[in-house]
Amino acid sequence: MQNNPDQFSSKIGFVLAAAGSAVGIGNLVGFPVAAAKNGGGAFLLLYIFFVVAICLPLILAELSMGRATGKSPLGAFREISKGHKGWVLAGALSLITPFMIAVFYTVLTVWLLGYFLVVLSGRLDQLATPVYFGGFITSPWIFAYLAAVIGMVVLVLKGGVRDGIEKASRLLMPMLFIMLIGLAVFVLTLPNASAGLKFYFTPQLDRITWSVVNGALSQAFFSLSLGMGILITYGSYLRKQDNLVQSAKMLACTDTGVALVAGLMTLPAIFAIYPNTNPSELSDSSVGLIFSFFPNIFMAMVPKFGYAMASFIAATFFLLAFVAAITSLVSIIEVPVAALKAESRQTRNKALALVITGVLVGAVFSALSFGQVKWLTEFAFYAGANKSLFDALVDVFYDTILPFNGLLICLLVTWQWKRHNMAAEMASGGSGGWLERYTHAAIAFWIPAILATVFVITATNKFFS
Ligand code: ALA
Repeated sequence: MQNNPDQFSSKIGFVLAAAGSAVGIGNLVGFPVAAAKNGGGAFLLLYIFFVVAICLPLILAELSMGRATGKSPLGAFREISKGHKGWVLAGALSLITPFMIAVFYTVLTVWLLGYFLVVLSGRLDQLATPVYFGGFITSPWIFAYLAAVIGMVVLVLKGGVRDGIEKASRLLMPMLFIMLIGLAVFVLTLPNASAGLKFYFTPQLDRITWSVVNGALSQAFFSLSLGMGILITYGSYLRKQDNLVQSAKMLACTDTGVALVAGLMTLPAIFAIYPNTNPSELSDSSVGLIFSFFPNIFMAMVPKFGYAMASFIAATFFLLAFVAAITSLVSIIEVPVAALKAESRQTRNKALALVITGVLVGAVFSALSFGQVKWLTEFAFYAGANKSLFDALVDVFYDTILPFNGLLICLLVTWQWKRHNMAAEMASGGSGGWLERYTHAAIAFWIPAILATVFVITATNKFFS
């Protein structure tokens, strides 16, 4: 068992791989912007409360389900419910969700790679012009970058669990931490950075509305890779002697720590360059921010640091975001690959080839939904507006479905698996202390109640307002 290549080699191997999955575009841009717009320190407190009170028990539930059954989401739902059709359908949703997220996440990763290469070629000034982004996402170059991203994902996933995912995470995650801390320290030395810090840490309770509460919870789910089947799949790669509670705590701390440091990098940078920034006017979309606003921040550094230095800092930032995105993308695509391999008894390579082809086709369609192809650009109509395929996927699978998948997990554990079985699985790697006791109560009562409420309100606001 010790040398099984389909298992993580150690607890730290698992934590780095799970952190690779968790730390992504959501942490680096989504979190700091949401914090700045939605009440600074008050949002931070709310977010940390959700991570501890709701997400940690769900991380434990997903890991326990995966390790106890040794299966990916579909197999785990089927085994726990003893083949009940409704629950198998719920398991299928845990597979469709990461597949669809992979489709739009691939497009975002492609853009990050493209921006990194454009900066490297000395064209930071072009990135900062208002029309650049629109031209960039509709240019044929996108397909060359797409081929490169897909190639990298295949390279990692072909290696399997230990020689692919874990090896890549061991190499890339420390590199990501160093770049992140380096950039944050640099930004904090800029004049006026303290205005950003002040904004970030001052709790503005009057900014907390119901939609901010929803946003904080969705952000925590997405950031921790919850409700996407990833932690069930990774749980199936854990050894019986690994302590689940400790691993879950380490994962939550790493992911939240990176989000907090990303805030220390982003907000002071914005305030240092634009001292009169009103955070409530920052773009709602992290995508808009990263691709249109950030190049301007780097260009604004030119008078002080010179063009070459500003380009170097910009390249480091886009490389950092790209590395974070690619390690997340690998984990998202691993879920359907592992499931297909198990369900159809194919080899890993065959399953990978099939899933990657599907993701590639979906990503090409989404990449063409920015005005190039009419039916993809006007793919859906809801809440009074036409939505592109890309936007519809983000609305459904990023903003809405994740808490619902979390709710299904709570119900499955409580009604089908029974909580004492989950407790026994958790205890197999060592005792879990307060978190184990808390999970036992929370997963059956207030977590499902909160998730059901959030799901209904988010779905109503998103699609019927
Ligand atoms: N958890 C990943 C992110 O935050 C998907 O981007």
